[in-house]
Amino acid sequence: MYRVKISGIGSYVPEKVMTNFDWEKLIDTTDEWIITRTGIKERHIAAKEEAASDLATRAAEKAIKNSGIKKEDIDLIIVATSTPDMIFPSTACIVQNKLGLTETPGFDILAACSGFIYAFNTAVSFITSKIYKNILIIGVDLLTRIMDWNDRNTCVLFGDAASAIVLSETPENEDSCVFSIYMGADGSLKDLLKIEHSGSLYPGLNDDRANYKSYIYMEGKEVFKSALIYMPLSVEKVLKAANMNSSDIDLLICHQANKRIIDSVGKRLNLPEEKIYVNLERFGNTSAATIPLALDTALSENRYKRNNILALTAIGGGVTYGAVLLRF
Ligand code: ACO
Repeated sequence: MYRVKISGIGSYVPEKVMTNFDWEKLIDTTDEWIITRTGIKERHIAAKEEAASDLATRAAEKAIKNSGIKKEDIDLIIVATSTPDMIFPSTACIVQNKLGLTETPGFDILAACSGFIYAFNTAVSFITSKIYKNILIIGVDLLTRIMDWNDRNTCVLFGDAASAIVLSETPENEDSCVFSIYMGADGSLKDLLKIEHSGSLYPGLNDDRANYKSYIYMEGKEVFKSALIYMPLSVEKVLKAANMNSSDIDLLICHQANKRIIDSVGKRLNLPEEKIYVNLERFGNTSAATIPLALDTALSENRYKRNNILALTAIGGGVTYGAVLLRF
């Protein structure tokens, strides 16, 4: 057990809402197909002038305010994102500056849709090793910037959002804690989900886009199958490590990519519907932002409260996967 707790949560979604009916006007799709196959009804799209750091800063300001901690007492900023403002400097550094902080260190983590879980586990390690007391973790992605708006297989799935938490050392007199954490990866599945543009292999210096994937490429069915294996497996790992079973979970928050995936994960874990949280109908797949965003909306809907046991799990490109089991 780790004496670490979530002391603040805050989110920001861009104003512009795009519904399935809006997509019907642009590509060969239907509201019915999207709802039946994914559960998504609408998503938010960032304004042209908004970058990841803008969304991230707004979410971070809310999380810090909600935590009651002075921003100067944040010891570290970790940003989980696959859509940083630019390759470097890190988005964490840009956010540090936008928050009006100086000296606070920061770095980005790239684990696609599992980025928040990877960042959370990293932060737990820093806090339990007594290096830091309060860490700001932001999950932010603007996948609509790197998807092909003409590829109906992917474009209807994604939305833009940022969400942040402050993770803090738990005082002795509080029961909040993190029971167990788990991370895994399978690099042999690296080609299931990728974007090749702008890396060192395909720097995109010449106009030869035909030779590499310049937008999100996803083998949907294979990713679907992996999600059904790795999310339940991750939750089982954290339950076992904490000597608990799935009936101890008050609320399961999965990466919000597809309602059918979430339902299957819930079934495999033997959880009743009321213990499984879904908000993807409103936001789509916001990648590294889905889990903290779900933590935020679920709390505001009274789906969990202090002392409840939450299981968080994700899968993403890599493939990467993992879970967290905590008492809120
Ligand atoms: N509208 C209408 N028809 C469509 C659309 C669309 N938007 N997209 C695909 N279709 C068609 C296909 O062309 C296909 O037609 P065909 O049978 O004539 O070839 C048919 O619908 C069925 O397509 P499938 O790919 O079999 O549909 P499936 O049921 O597998 O659903 C989906 C596709 C939603 C992408 C699903 O596979 C999925 O959710 N996969 C997992 C995605 C995921 O979890 N990603 C998470 C990680 S994301 C990250 O890390 C960044």
